[in-house]
Amino acid sequence: KKEGNLPGRQDWSSWPLYQAAGAGFRGYWYPVMFSSKVGERPVRVKLLGEDIFVIRDRGLVRGMANRCPHRGVPLSYGNKQFPGTISCVYHGWTFDLETGDLKAAITDGPKSPICGKVTQPTYHVEERLGMVWIFVGDGEEPHPIDEQLPEELVSNAAVIGSRIMPREGNWRFACENGYDEGHAKYLHRTALWRLFKAMPVWNTTKIVKRGRWIYRVQLEQFWDADFPGLGKWTGKAWYKSNPPKTTTNIGNTGSHREVNEVIAAQNFPGFASVSMPGVLRIAYPTFIHYEFYVPVDEDNHLYVGVMADFQKGFKTIPFYFKYLGAVRWLFHGQFSSQDKWMVEVTDAPPEKLYRPDDSLLQWRKLAEDTTEDRIDALAEQGIDVPTPN
Ligand code: FES
Repeated sequence: KKEGNLPGRQDWSSWPLYQAAGAGFRGYWYPVMFSSKVGERPVRVKLLGEDIFVIRDRGLVRGMANRCPHRGVPLSYGNKQFPGTISCVYHGWTFDLETGDLKAAITDGPKSPICGKVTQPTYHVEERLGMVWIFVGDGEEPHPIDEQLPEELVSNAAVIGSRIMPREGNWRFACENGYDEGHAKYLHRTALWRLFKAMPVWNTTKIVKRGRWIYRVQLEQFWDADFPGLGKWTGKAWYKSNPPKTTTNIGNTGSHREVNEVIAAQNFPGFASVSMPGVLRIAYPTFIHYEFYVPVDEDNHLYVGVMADFQKGFKTIPFYFKYLGAVRWLFHGQFSSQDKWMVEVTDAPPEKLYRPDDSLLQWRKLAEDTTEDRIDALAEQGIDVPTPN
């Protein structure tokens, strides 16, 4: 196993599995669209470079490889001529949506000898958090999706506000940006969101691993700093004095607001955490913000932002006002568009890293180690995944 020692490694070659994952890590569930967008007509999706369509059939969402094996026409141009099937628009090859078996080749009659000899690849699909999730693997049986979702979202009622946005740039830049220690303090200094939130100029941190997540623990915070020969820089908010020097585990403003009981019960070691296959979790005292970076292909990803407020019944009402009135625009909108910009313009390594980039190195190490473990586990099942040299 490799160690992420600072100062910086010059490229990604120390992390061969990470470097090879330009189109994403296989063996995970990925959110691709809102459930409400999937009906009785096929919808095309690109995920980890794979061309897929999804369609709703008798309540369940099914997923299948989009390329018709006959002449390569997208099956997403076809439709459901018979319940539980999709018929290709060109010559009417008709596939069972659940098994992928070719059930009929309409234009070759009911006894077409090709039937039973062709199976179209299918995908495991689930619906959670109002979204459709697809598993992309290497032929293994997928782990239950609930084992991959953030634990607190599986076991607690929450009111959710989400955005799914197609964005340019490699998903790794998006994930690294999300967990990047320094950018929140500098790039986002001009975000409207920051009117409500003071930020230290810098702070010391340590990264702690717990389960499948790594957490950034904020240690000492510095709200002002004197740069010799240059001048003073401050992260202080204009409307209030600086928060106390010590920090709580949740949030980084030193806020004295009461912490939501579900969030408090998680006892997160740090407020910013990341897990495979590229999920960021920022725990504030009263809600949690998640970002899922979904690889479309090498050059494009989906930004899926989810805001969860762990409330039930009438207590959910203020969330809608807060989310629709402010959060959706200030946080998922303007703040996040600053990130989008940086993901588009970040250049591939070589790179020269500095102290706050420990976040990046630890994330890469997590990805590398977890993937090594997955490859070993697949080998035990007799599934060989080629590893980069
Ligand atoms: Fe699909 Fe011919 S290309 S049936």
